[in-house]
Amino acid sequence: MSLSVSLKINNQPHTVDLEDARPTLLDVLRERIGLTGTKKGCDRGQCGACTVLVDGRRVNSCLALAISHEGAEITTIEGLAEGDELHPVQAAFIENDGFQCGYCTPGQIMSAVGLFREAGTDLDAEQMRELMSGNLCRCGAYAGISEALGDAQKRLAEKGS
Ligand code: FES
Ligand code: FES
Repeated sequence: MSLSVSLKINNQPHTVDLEDARPTLLDVLRERIGLTGTKKGCDRGQCGACTVLVDGRRVNSCLALAISHEGAEITTIEGLAEGDELHPVQAAFIENDGFQCGYCTPGQIMSAVGLFREAGTDLDAEQMRELMSGNLCRCGAYAGISEALGDAQKRLAEKGS
């Protein structure tokens, strides 16, 4: 039995044929669409490296079956910038050295974008740490990540988004 799933990824429509119902959203994004910015860390829902937005909400794409998301709007790290202009959260991570090796960074950034959408920008550092606790950094770059989150919050508040 052949299956297909239609997704809107970074504002572009894609229909992907699947051999069965098992491919995860992460594998479809990376291996079928070629969007390798979303990273595979643990592949079991424990690290957050694979975080994308599905209909605006944070999802661990390694745990999501692609077939379950027919018609969904997916945003990946590749879809955040507007032309040459980085998303404020991307700019804040760069400005504040919110990374070391960078492997967890796309997931950290997507998670931060999602959390500011969910919870607004009026959060204290402790609340942000709690809401980002699903995103692990093996390099331990948490000090920079924390600074980046604070800066991102200010940038988004100034932008009114
Ligand atoms: S790769 Fe999905 S949570 Fe680790
Ligand atoms: S920057 Fe290396 S895992 Fe986070």
